[in-house]
Amino acid sequence: MAQRESFGSSFGALVALAGSAVGLGNLWRFPYLVGTNGGAAFIIIYLAFVLLLALPIMYSEFIIGRRSQSNVFGAYKVLAPKTKWCNIGFVYVLGSLAIISFYCVVGGWTIAYLWKAVTFRFSMADTEVLGSMFSQTVTSSTQPLAFMLIFLAATGLIVLAGIKDGIERYTKVMMPLLFVIVVIVAIRSVTLPGSGAGLEFLFRPDFSKVTAGTIIDALGQAFFSLSIGCGTIMTYGSYVAKKESLVGISIETAITDTLFAIIAGLAIMPAVFAFGISPAEGPGLVFVTLPYIFAQIPFGAFLAILFFFMLFIAAITSSISQLEVIVSYLKEEFSMSRKVAILLSMAVIVTFGILCSLSQGVLADVKIFGFNFFDLFDKTSANILLPVGGFFAVIFVGWKMKREDVKDELTSSGIRKYSPLFFNFIYYSIKYLAPIVVAVILVSGLI
Ligand code: PHE
Repeated sequence: MAQRESFGSSFGALVALAGSAVGLGNLWRFPYLVGTNGGAAFIIIYLAFVLLLALPIMYSEFIIGRRSQSNVFGAYKVLAPKTKWCNIGFVYVLGSLAIISFYCVVGGWTIAYLWKAVTFRFSMADTEVLGSMFSQTVTSSTQPLAFMLIFLAATGLIVLAGIKDGIERYTKVMMPLLFVIVVIVAIRSVTLPGSGAGLEFLFRPDFSKVTAGTIIDALGQAFFSLSIGCGTIMTYGSYVAKKESLVGISIETAITDTLFAIIAGLAIMPAVFAFGISPAEGPGLVFVTLPYIFAQIPFGAFLAILFFFMLFIAAITSSISQLEVIVSYLKEEFSMSRKVAILLSMAVIVTFGILCSLSQGVLADVKIFGFNFFDLFDKTSANILLPVGGFFAVIFVGWKMKREDVKDELTSSGIRKYSPLFFNFIYYSIKYLAPIVVAVILVSGLI
């Protein structure tokens, strides 16, 4: 077999994984779901899922990918030859396809807003003007499509450049910078007069408002935000060297991602209440609130440019990981070149992306199962396909793989000597805890 690509360094591997995890999920999706699901109680349930489920699933995907050195489909063929397990690969390819199809639309919105920031369109802002600015931006049948195509082209070009040169290089510098800007925005947000109600919304839980929908949304968001359940970690894991600590990288990724989400919440919610915006505003929440905050910060116009640029980069480092799942599958299973695999995937993604984008405007009334295209791709991927994909990953590692092989992967770095207790804790959460919790929630949610 030809030498497989791999990440250039441990830092590179961490940055690629954290780059995949941190993205629109943290800065756009998390705040708006917190808003529509009533605040603190949602956050607590979300955090519980990250702790209990996300880590075991992440380890499992990582183990499958690194052990097999293969794509999401080939991985199961390598580890469980001549069985039907490999068909699970389709769930991951489908999940990644569904996600990138609406993700690229929001990615396009970030470019639209970067352009507005560069042309100083936020300076005279008030919330009403910003609200209609958002709806004009997303409902048009031309502009968002153009921006979506730019976003996809950028994604395709980076994936074309390959793993090490493409993915690693761009993420290293941008992520820390994005973090600093979000912290600055958060500081301004919590010091606005009237921000107290927002803090209360974020931190004082009211569990009486929790419904089955809240729990499913929190589950889906945990999967979505950590990029698990659609083969991303499996695919990236196959590029990580054996000497790296899989547990270490996973924990660091989860911490980084959660920090970003919480700080994003702190940046948005207090301002939402201070400005009298409805927290249940939906997908436009971040795009309406942030420009208004930037209008109230010294050098805000400049910060706005930086912010939307970084948001774009954060989105790109996530979309490349979605595309890479599909591309590595086509490339390895059908012996396609990287280029052909990318072009083929793009043809499908652009078609779905156009439907998702137009469903904000002219196609708003086309509903499938009661959802427009955008919500259909969003909800079915995050709330169904990703949990199903994650479920099979833990079942495979816990029940099909040999315990010694699992142990070998978990302890391969040799740097950290895991106590048997720690290994057993991880192993049993993979074998029992994660699959049971996911199955119970999915089944009860569907009922
Ligand atoms: N985790 C990414 C984000 O939060 C989105 C993503 C989902 C990326 C699934 C890859 C796979 O923006």
